[in-house]
Amino acid sequence: MGKDEIVAWLQEDGEEALARLWRKADDARRANVGDAVHLRGLIEISNVCVRHCSYCGLRAANSKLHRYRMSAAEIMACVGQAVRFGCGTVVMQAGEDDGILTEWMGGLVRRIKKETDLAVTLSLGERPVEDFAAWREAGADRYLLRFETSNRLLYEKIHSPRSGGETDRLAILKALQGLGYETGSGAMIGIPGQTYDDVANDLLLFRDMDLDMIGVGPYIPHPDTPLGKAGPEFYAPDGLQAPGSEAMTYKVVALSRLLCPEANIPSTTALATIHGANGRELGLLRGANVVMPNLTPVPYRSLYEIYPNKACIRENPPQSFLCLRQRVRAIGRTVGTGKGGRTGRKRA
Ligand code: 5AD
Repeated sequence: MGKDEIVAWLQEDGEEALARLWRKADDARRANVGDAVHLRGLIEISNVCVRHCSYCGLRAANSKLHRYRMSAAEIMACVGQAVRFGCGTVVMQAGEDDGILTEWMGGLVRRIKKETDLAVTLSLGERPVEDFAAWREAGADRYLLRFETSNRLLYEKIHSPRSGGETDRLAILKALQGLGYETGSGAMIGIPGQTYDDVANDLLLFRDMDLDMIGVGPYIPHPDTPLGKAGPEFYAPDGLQAPGSEAMTYKVVALSRLLCPEANIPSTTALATIHGANGRELGLLRGANVVMPNLTPVPYRSLYEIYPNKACIRENPPQSFLCLRQRVRAIGRTVGTGKGGRTGRKRA
């Protein structure tokens, strides 16, 4: 699929044409990754962040936010729940928190790999490559780092560098692949200033990078951030600006599946947030094969406010897992057993 065709799909509004896109994506999903929906238990281990990303509620300058960092004992209790509720993977995510020490994290990964059969995914932002190597050595299987947008100018507009150098997420992703991580990335859809053309480039980059996992969600304005307060002057002209809508997000999920048939693609929380209850299912019917139930202890959950009104903020795990299993079965799919890693062709 070429860029023109991708842009045409992103701009398509016809019901019948879109039904065809959903069908193609669902067929590709079934043929390449099957009917299993893999559960990745998400633990948001710290909301401390040194960065100033202009869209994110966890940004360092947001002084309204009470900060937390979970203890190893608290995290292990959540890991126990992941096992009990049948997750094959645990995902530990945080802001860019320099208080998460390399050794401490490595010890935790080692412990999880020793005491459970879970795959371990880390999503801890940009770190020195030595950290990635140490955690891989400790047994971490996968790493997630979204590049957010492939438009370099837009990227630089909404991210300030870490003190000590520019940020090159593509180089980091390559390094992660080189270390043998199953590597995931992704983008936000509908960032002010992001065009349809930019989103098509994001999709082509997913394919060219041969990603194992692709996570996309709509950009949701957060009122306590600079970009959340942005006026119309930040947006691309009408007809060019990519909308951060539900329909647009499904299109990107579907096209990701067609361009990267073997990738693991989650139906994300941001999707559930803008749609309400059924967003997750619709993602699963339009190319996605993964869901990431939240295992973060309820008192911390509302503090991990990347964007406002995040879905499932009050649900406790037994409830949400029961509900999730029923929902997966109701759409004719099965809950995955095992780790649900990338199958098929492996990178050389
Ligand atoms: N709206 C949507 N997604 C956001 N993220 C951060 N802030 C927002 C927002 N305001 C996403 C980024 C990041 C992931 C953890 O959350 O893509 O990589």
